Amino acid sequence: MKRISDQMEDLLNRQMTREAYQAQVYLAYGAWAEANSFPGIATFLYGHMQEEREHMFKILKYILDRGGEVKVEALNAAPACPTNIGDCLQHILQHEIENSKQIDKIVRLAHDESDWATFNFGQWFVQEQIEEETLINGVIDKYNLASTQIGGNHNLYEFDKDLASASQEATTARDETLE
Ligand SMILES: [Fe+2]
Ligand SMILES: [Fe+2]
Repeated sequence: MKRISDQMEDLLNRQMTREAYQAQVYLAYGAWAEANSFPGIATFLYGHMQEEREHMFKILKYILDRGGEVKVEALNAAPACPTNIGDCLQHILQHEIENSKQIDKIVRLAHDESDWATFNFGQWFVQEQIEEETLINGVIDKYNLASTQIGGNHNLYEFDKDLASASQEATTARDETLE
């Protein structure tokens, strides 16, 4: 039995496609970073591509769990190559913020429809987007440190190495305790 509205089904399908698009963005930027001799950044971006695919799949499963119909649709082309790492990271942050706004639409509709199941499901993504924005902001902070000091190229080399093993998870306020 279908337990989501037609409008919600449509919105969730669009979000599923959006998460797949996010994966394409990380894939394209990862390839650009690798081609431009930043293998660590590429590793980080490819790792994040995988996270976005998981988000896509999570939404697919939820639509099916609620008796909806999954519609796998065409993806927009990935954006043009960035001009440098700073530009690359800023574009990624903008994509994440835009994605957060799309998640908000799902939560808002769920609230309006008193669809508490989807409201609850959406909260996972709300939290995830807080983490993702925090994660990328943290990488931008590191990049700014690495790129603005004397000896910038050496620092950039270290920054790239650092990102190869960087976590895909950010610690947010919600995770913090004083223990
Ligand atoms: Fe995502
Ligand atoms: Fe993301």
